[in-house]
Amino acid sequence: MNKEEIKNRIHELRECLHKHNYNYYILAKSEISDYEFDIKMKELEKLETENPEFFDKNSPTQRVGDDRNHEFKQIKHSYPMLSLGNTYNNEELIEFDARIKKSIAEDFNYVCELKFDGASISLKYTDGQLVHAVTRGDGTEGDDVTANIKTIKSIPLKLQGTEYPNEFEIRGEIILPHSVFAELNRQKELEGEPLLANPRNAASGILKKRNSYYVSKRALDCFFYYIMGNELPTNSHFENMQLAKKWGFKVSEHSEKLKDINEVIDYINKWDKKRETLPFDIDGIVIKVDETPLQQELGFTSKFPRWAISYKFKAERELTKLESISYQVGRTGAITPVANLTPVLLSGTTVKRASLHNSDFIKNLDLHNDDFVYVEKGGEIIPKVVGIDYNKRKLDATPVIFVEYCPECNTQLIKNETEAIHYCPNENNCPPQIKGKIEHFISRKAMNIEAGEATVELLYNANLIKDISSLYELTEEQLLKLERFAKKSAQNLIASIQKSKETEFQKVIYALGIRYVGETIAKKLVKKVNDIDTLKSLTFEQLIEIDEIGDKIAVSILDFFAEEKNITIIENLKRHGLKFKIEQMQENISNSLAGKSIVVSGSFATPQRRKEIEEMVEKHGGKKSGSVTSKTSFIVAGANMGSSKLEKAKQLNIKIINEEEFLSMLA
Ligand code: IVH
Repeated sequence: MNKEEIKNRIHELRECLHKHNYNYYILAKSEISDYEFDIKMKELEKLETENPEFFDKNSPTQRVGDDRNHEFKQIKHSYPMLSLGNTYNNEELIEFDARIKKSIAEDFNYVCELKFDGASISLKYTDGQLVHAVTRGDGTEGDDVTANIKTIKSIPLKLQGTEYPNEFEIRGEIILPHSVFAELNRQKELEGEPLLANPRNAASGILKKRNSYYVSKRALDCFFYYIMGNELPTNSHFENMQLAKKWGFKVSEHSEKLKDINEVIDYINKWDKKRETLPFDIDGIVIKVDETPLQQELGFTSKFPRWAISYKFKAERELTKLESISYQVGRTGAITPVANLTPVLLSGTTVKRASLHNSDFIKNLDLHNDDFVYVEKGGEIIPKVVGIDYNKRKLDATPVIFVEYCPECNTQLIKNETEAIHYCPNENNCPPQIKGKIEHFISRKAMNIEAGEATVELLYNANLIKDISSLYELTEEQLLKLERFAKKSAQNLIASIQKSKETEFQKVIYALGIRYVGETIAKKLVKKVNDIDTLKSLTFEQLIEIDEIGDKIAVSILDFFAEEKNITIIENLKRHGLKFKIEQMQENISNSLAGKSIVVSGSFATPQRRKEIEEMVEKHGGKKSGSVTSKTSFIVAGANMGSSKLEKAKQLNIKIINEEEFLSMLA
């Protein structure tokens, strides 16, 4: 490259990295893999070092990325929050080891830890109390997310014991376990919203929510991996972290203290295979010199500690051919493009399909028909298309054009300017939308009718159901004519449909499947209105006055009630006896528990059973409470009651009874 070409390449790389930094830290989405990002960063670093005349203090190489959202208060870190140098192979690790040995003469140990793939956080504690929690920000200062952090159950607000330093900062990674991620996406699918790309983006998105109530509902977790302060208890990072565990911090049990770089390489190889078994994502291993005086001696470069490095697992990726694209139609008409690929083996599973998310994703990739694409499966569950081998593209290849008409009902698709998603507007006649609405209606958190996707498909194809209200017209005779139903299963389904009529108003609202009205919004609506007719009559202004309801949700509710077909369905459902108003303040069965504050704790036969017991407390005039205090009258305990509650109860001499004793008390 001549100087002009170098200058252009540097410019191109800087622009590209700035854009990806912004996508990653501000929009919490990523369009390229970490590996590609690192390769680009390394190329830029090399070009800048070799050509210092093109130095720019605002180059992406000159900082650690910026995740600040200025709606949060900014707090300065006591110690800068630096990033780690990355390595991808054993040679680079051996170079790291050699660099350290060149600088320090004495023996030392390594500590290997999992590299959690989430959002980093720094917590400050003074006298055993949480002072604040700050995101990485630009490394010097970050967002004050204390209120959100406090809702994460595994983060101690007050430390255990007395042996902790008076003042220290501890760093950790906020993560979203796979199970919670999958459940959130299942919910999003039901609510017709675009899916979250991966647990890491979801975790940082949730952490930056402005309403901590929503953070508390989303089950984030946090692993801690580094502690800083003037008076740390020992000179070993590993020992300090073990002590931090005793003070109440969640520290990974998979960290190991190792003797030399060969043991480090063994550890890495072990976890490259084992990482699939973890319930959360990791994207590599962090290798640290254990002895803190040696860490100080080694010090930092402007960006990284010299005493630590990360080994990034290369997300397994394969090249395969894009055979075709299918367009899936969701319950709310949202269209998801899916790449059908020539089957390829990736991390032990055959991958045939990968989500292409939306039309913007396809456009950004510049995807052409018959392209050869790279599919990648990192720590993540869903394989994704991360790039294209342009060399393999035929000269006459045509760009992928997003479908214009619904693949199921042929209606012209619509797309809102501000959204990336295309929708099929034919919500009442488009088969997957009808079936999707029925599936949502019968789901456990809605009407809880015991039937699944296959039954809906069967009944729909047999012309027995055409919308949610026709479920209540089904008869046993009709079902018995279908091959899959025997007397017992037909009776069970009818009984379950009948029983669903008892479902409370709030769940009925949720079950209607109004776009963007999930469980939480349904709850907010029911707090404001007592019946469906009032809800139907609310104006835009009245709707947006309700907590958590913004323009988008208000418009969606108005659109729903403006649709004649929806009104007919609601009238039919009313006729069948569904609850479209709040029950009159339920009369108490008795007042035998009046004035009593009762804690229900531990696990019962089912989580449902625990709820029932809590309801009984209220129906008999009692007040249920979540924590044991001197005001607690007694505790109804199931199995494995929490040890802190148990201790408190003992301390305060509070009576503990079991389920049977509770029932006989009511009888
Ligand atoms: S140590 C100076 N340990 O990786 C100490 N970081 O790429 C630097 N991370 O910003 C961090 N797991 O968010 C460390 N066991 C671990 C980690 C870890 C995940 C994250 C952290 C950091 C980033 C660096």
